Amino acid sequence: MSEPIIEVRDLVRKFGSRSVLNGISFTVEKGDTLIIMGGSGCGKSTLLRHIIGSLKPTSGSIKIFGREITTMPPKELEQLRLRFGMNFQFGALLQSLTVGENVALPLLENSRVDPSIVDLVVKLKLELVGLTGFEHLKPSEISGGMRKRVGLARAVALDPELLFSDEPTSGLDPIMTAVIDQFTIDLTRKLGMTAVVVTHDMVSAFHIATKMIVLGAGEKQGQIIAMGTPDEIRNSPNAEVQQFINGEPDGPIPLKLAPEDYITRLIGRPHREDL
Ligand SMILES: Nc1ncnc2c1ncn2[C@@H]1O[C@H](COP(=O)(O)OP(=O)(O)OP(=O)(O)O)[C@@H](O)[C@H]1O
Ligand SMILES: [Mg+2]
Repeated sequence: MSEPIIEVRDLVRKFGSRSVLNGISFTVEKGDTLIIMGGSGCGKSTLLRHIIGSLKPTSGSIKIFGREITTMPPKELEQLRLRFGMNFQFGALLQSLTVGENVALPLLENSRVDPSIVDLVVKLKLELVGLTGFEHLKPSEISGGMRKRVGLARAVALDPELLFSDEPTSGLDPIMTAVIDQFTIDLTRKLGMTAVVVTHDMVSAFHIATKMIVLGAGEKQGQIIAMGTPDEIRNSPNAEVQQFINGEPDGPIPLKLAPEDYITRLIGRPHREDL
């Protein structure tokens, strides 16, 4: 088999004394869609930021296209990033620019793109995410779900070999979610793009994934608790994984405090009837 597109080995990231990522290892092959799942705050976005090189690990190795990025000089990393598309969790659109100008930004910044085709590419990418005719509006004049799709159009403006997408369908209706899912499937299965997608949307996750990882919480914070194909994850014997993918409120992942703990947290001391 050819070299993986992404190879993460023993990745550790501490914030202070807290290990948010704690010994993460996995590979992503060309054409794969890797889904990263796990509870809120478990470290999914942090993991993504390390893979794109915007955060440096405490220890461990990250190779993209066979090249170690954790020690790469910033200029080289910038060059390598021209081969990535990045769709951030909170959009990160420039508010002063129109939708069209936001999508055009990576095209204008890349000297290899002929300026005469920029408008055409912008129209094409907006059409792919169902936003034909919205290029003249400002981000503040469109809905949250539409802004997400503008972020995705911008991320694929340069036809990246590798797409990173953080919660691309959160806040979208089911039909638009299906459109975005199909878009990712077309890019990966027909054009050979590789994708890494963080999502809480289980329907979407199982629809587009070729490989999945689930990050743990509590004692398992920062560790991969399950990894495999969608079928392997669906049939995982791990109770935490089952609780997560089935959205069950009770199970090994504690979501509620015992009543006494809750009162202690609220009033700052244990509750006593006689006080
Ligand atoms: N720069 C930072 N400094 C300190 N702690 C951080 C920093 N970045 C992230 N964290 C912590 O790392 C943990 C994981 O955050 P992260 O944003 O990766 O979670 P997530 O899995 O993406 O959650 P969500 O599903 O809510 O988006 C959080 O507890 C967060 O407070
Ligand atoms: Mg996140």
